Amino acid sequence: MTAPLTDNAVLKLLNVESAYGPIKAIRGVSLQVRRGEIATVLGSNGAGKTTILKTISGIIDPRKGTVEFKGENITAQDPAHIVQLGLMHVPEGREVFPLLSVRDNLLMGAYTRNDRDGVARDMELVFNYFPILRERAAQDAGLLSGGQQQMLAISRALMANPDLILLDEPSLGLSPKLTKEIFEIVVRINRERGTTILLVEQNANMALNASDYGYVLENGRIVMEDTCARLREKEDIKEFYLGMKEAGVRADRRWKKKKNWR
Ligand SMILES: Nc1ncnc2c1ncn2[C@@H]1O[C@H](COP(=O)(O)OP(=O)(O)OP(=O)(O)O)[C@@H](O)[C@H]1O
Ligand SMILES: [Mg+2]
Repeated sequence: MTAPLTDNAVLKLLNVESAYGPIKAIRGVSLQVRRGEIATVLGSNGAGKTTILKTISGIIDPRKGTVEFKGENITAQDPAHIVQLGLMHVPEGREVFPLLSVRDNLLMGAYTRNDRDGVARDMELVFNYFPILRERAAQDAGLLSGGQQQMLAISRALMANPDLILLDEPSLGLSPKLTKEIFEIVVRINRERGTTILLVEQNANMALNASDYGYVLENGRIVMEDTCARLREKEDIKEFYLGMKEAGVRADRRWKKKKNWR
């Protein structure tokens, strides 16, 4: 089922397995993210989405398999080294530094850089994407709303001028309107800067509209992959992830109830 690994892949996972003690969270996960695309991993609570991202960024060491970034084997390497290679992780629940100002949070994102002019340019760039951050630049980040903190977390990752950003559920806890706004800007960042993005989401609707290629993760395994255009048309995805089966009813999401994906 896995597509052949192509040369323009920025990130490749091959047969990755990660566990927490006796609990195998992900198994046999192979995926790739091509340069310039937005790829997404869809899955319900506990499917293993966050575990995939933590394994990529070195927070968790996998039991099996390999992670390659820009052709380099980064499996189980020090997270700080992985950041230096140009891979930034925006974690679940954003995690800004609450007692630092918005501006200082942004500068923390640029700590690996010493091109001052470039850092200043990128600060201006993120202020243009998220004008509220310019207004609040001197304010403690802990005083921002949840949505504004998500904007800051994404912006802090951008400040490293990375080749790849891992985005863990940017929609978590946000209103539909704010989620839409943030996704629109994520797509703009991808199109305008060419930043490659791997997004994990429960919000399949948003993720499938924003992304180019998608993987469906269930109980730690990838059960389906395809272009997002094609995934959007698949009956199983419509039924279980987009709640479109019963006409007119925003069907309760019967996650995980059916296993025979087609
Ligand atoms: N620190 C941990 N210790 C033990 N088990 C864990 C730990 N973190 C995650 N797990 C387990 O690993 C599995 C995958 O969890 P993970 O956080 O990757 O899921 P997720 O897809 O990100 O879910 P969510 O959408 O709720 O964030 C779950 O069964 C979870 O209970
Ligand atoms: Mg998660």
